[in-house]
Amino acid sequence: MTYKVGLLGLGTVGTGVAKIFQDPNGRHPLLPDIDIARVGVRSLNKQREAIASNIVTEDLEAIVNDPAIDIVVEVIGGIEPAKSLILKAIANGKHVVTANKAVIARHGHEIFAAAKEKGVYVMLEAAACGGIPVIQALKQSLGGNRITELTGIVNGTTNYILSRMYFEGADFDATLAEAQQLGYAEADPTADVDGYDAADKMAILASLAFGDRVKLEDIYREGIRSITSADIGYAKELGFTIKLLGIARRVEGKDDSNLEIRVHPTMIPLQHPLANIHGVTNAVRIEGDPIGEVVFSGPGAGAGATASAVVADIINVVAALKSMPNQVNQLMGYPHENYAKIAPIANTVTQFYARLLTHDKSGVIGDLGTAFGKHCVSLNAILQKTTVHDGLAEIVVVTQRVSELNFQQAIATIRELPTLHSIPTVLRVL
Ligand SMILES: NC(=O)c1ccc[n+]([C@@H]2O[C@H](COP(=O)([O-])OP(=O)(O)OC[C@H]3O[C@@H](n4cnc5c(N)ncnc54)[C@H](OP(=O)(O)O)[C@@H]3O)[C@@H](O)[C@H]2O)c1
Repeated sequence: MTYKVGLLGLGTVGTGVAKIFQDPNGRHPLLPDIDIARVGVRSLNKQREAIASNIVTEDLEAIVNDPAIDIVVEVIGGIEPAKSLILKAIANGKHVVTANKAVIARHGHEIFAAAKEKGVYVMLEAAACGGIPVIQALKQSLGGNRITELTGIVNGTTNYILSRMYFEGADFDATLAEAQQLGYAEADPTADVDGYDAADKMAILASLAFGDRVKLEDIYREGIRSITSADIGYAKELGFTIKLLGIARRVEGKDDSNLEIRVHPTMIPLQHPLANIHGVTNAVRIEGDPIGEVVFSGPGAGAGATASAVVADIINVVAALKSMPNQVNQLMGYPHENYAKIAPIANTVTQFYARLLTHDKSGVIGDLGTAFGKHCVSLNAILQKTTVHDGLAEIVVVTQRVSELNFQQAIATIRELPTLHSIPTVLRVL
């Protein structure tokens, strides 16, 4: 039996998917049993490769309503019409494969509830970390573990920018402009550099890792715009690098919160497995009991890598339909129905790095020490560069592990010091 796919979108990812089906030799033996029967696009006026023009339409509703279609593959992106088309496909009893992190992170609850009711699959390997098979690993291969922590470099654009800044000492703005020119960053880079894309992906990964749904608005998020070449220089001097990390870990909070989840630029020691992930590469480190540590790395975006994940999902659905046509394979679903109780950021306990500009006067270090001491913040390292410019001295401190609340209170006290000029950067340390 041949299974018919309705492909919504024939851009970067859709074209990558079509090309795999055009050239099945040496790939999975189920590929010839799968037929891309219809393709939906926004405009028929574009030149298309990898697909016969007679199956391409601008009427995407007709595809999700077509009784002949078994699996709808949504690779158009954005919230609408993607979300409505996915829900309509499910309502019509079709299985769905999507690469759309934005829709899943925001509307996953509605989509999975509808899929459960209809007994259909919704697969999303490509929605987080592109070609890295981390979702399948969380659903299946690591099923015997109690996951305690998931940490990831899940956004290639910011990792490219921070890698260039680290290796070339370049500034953020110049590196972003170059990344835009090379096509690694969008014209509007907000989703990437301000951490929204990473938060979408962490919501998806953490839900799978910890078994409870994560609300996007509960994820603490900071982007990388404040990082300067000075911070990169100090990080090097102290034996660290700076990465935009997504961090999710199980905690036992006083207020029955069970999960800590945040996205922010992080100083990580050079010997950490994520420190050597450079350029657009993504990586995810998972800690579990009893496995210990596993690290996945690879291409998080691009036509081939993302299509690799989408096609794997299609194959999984077809294999499940062939082997158990009237049942749902439990290993392919989303078991979570409750929401995780996320600990407030103030409860986080971590080390901090702060770069301060002070007036170059005697007694400054003493003032800082007193302010940190007052709020129980012990220091691990302190670096002072006298007179960096305009009579200002630059002081860098790295704290011991302290509560976020105490640290922020100390910083508020320091902001009141007459000897302080400004605090350009505060970073958390892994
Ligand atoms: N690109 C990557 O490396 C990557 C990696 C991981 C995940 N993803 C996800 O994959 C999805 C697709 O990304 P992409 O890079 O392939 O996007 P893309 O290159 O912009 O392609 C989007 C496709 O969808 C069609 N489309 C968009 N809006 C439409 C609408 N309102 N009605 C009908 N057709 C519409 C476009 O039609 P036209 O061709 O007529 O314009 C185009 O064929 C997104 O959710 C993205 O987040 C992408």
